[in-house]
Amino acid sequence: MTRGLPAGEVGPTEGASVLPPDDTGEAIDLPASGLTITFGFGPTLFRDADGRDRFGLAGRQPDALRTLPHFPGDLLDPERSHGDLCVQACADDPQVAVHAIRNLARIGFGTVAVRWSQLGFGRTSTTSTSQSTPRNLFGFKDGTANVKAEEPEALDDHIWVGADDGDATSSWLTGGSYLVTRRINMTIEVWDRQPLGDQEAFVGRTKGSGAPLSGGDEFTEPDFSMPGSDGPVIPRDSHVRVVHPDFNGGARMLRRGYNFVDGSDPLGGLNAGLFFIAFVRDPDTHFIPIQNKMAKSDAMMEYLKVTGSALFAVPPGIAEGEYVGQALFEA
Ligand code: HEM
Repeated sequence: MTRGLPAGEVGPTEGASVLPPDDTGEAIDLPASGLTITFGFGPTLFRDADGRDRFGLAGRQPDALRTLPHFPGDLLDPERSHGDLCVQACADDPQVAVHAIRNLARIGFGTVAVRWSQLGFGRTSTTSTSQSTPRNLFGFKDGTANVKAEEPEALDDHIWVGADDGDATSSWLTGGSYLVTRRINMTIEVWDRQPLGDQEAFVGRTKGSGAPLSGGDEFTEPDFSMPGSDGPVIPRDSHVRVVHPDFNGGARMLRRGYNFVDGSDPLGGLNAGLFFIAFVRDPDTHFIPIQNKMAKSDAMMEYLKVTGSALFAVPPGIAEGEYVGQALFEA
């Protein structure tokens, strides 16, 4: 599918008329559209809620791969949270991404079942300096200070699991990463009634160019000590200050989320927000403390409601002839 070929060997229309096709057909004539598929393993693949070893893998569960804690203000829907396996399909065309998920779920029928899924659109971050910064549904540029592909040292320090991380039993994850998902509903209609200056103070950056409130252009480093008329010009409770590496032990994360709109709620408000996705080397140092702090002291939280949450370990890429997670399953 990542090469634009059908999911099965026969294809959507060439098989016997008495059998269901081995490809569902909605991607016929569509190009691969940059399709990538990322797989992850959740903590419950290793142990059930009572700590029992489900598939003989418990001895290889990395210490950091635990169900994420409850964060202040979380209003999680259990039917949109957690899971044993994660399959993420990304493509330039949602039809291609949905085709991939649908066919993988179809092939897995009887062995696995879909617990939840989320369709997103428009990325909410850049992951390369060659991309221009997109905007989230609050209308702000998102991804400015993200870790970029052109920063190999930062990727090693903050994103890829290193050979010395964890102990020998989790060596299958070396070169992989942890994937955090948070389904964050935005109270869009309330946000839209806030004055521009307040919106910018919540974020800590300007809405137009994305520059820090301390001045410069989008990529100027924020000056958190610059005084304003009432405290620092970048408020202490602004999002960028609360989550900035300078105030979080230097920890960075690779954000790679998407916007979502899942229709409207009964009051006519959009059921919309940001499907936050981040890749980190260690959730215990690079996500949980930062999320805790954000939940407690970030001014933007007033406009957010977290309705889904999950953590997965993503094994490293595979070589020709290998299958995903081979080092875990055959250790
Ligand atoms: C709906 C929820 C969220 C919105 C609307 C949002 C929005 C933004 C915006 C506009 C920026 C500034 C531009 C940039 O550098 O990308 C930013 C930066 C950032 N956000 Fe968020 N964010 C959200 C949730 C989160 C969450 C849950 C986390 C992690 C706990 C997070 C971590 C970060 C980090 C680490 C930065 C970069 C800070 C820096 O180095 O300057 N964000 N976010």
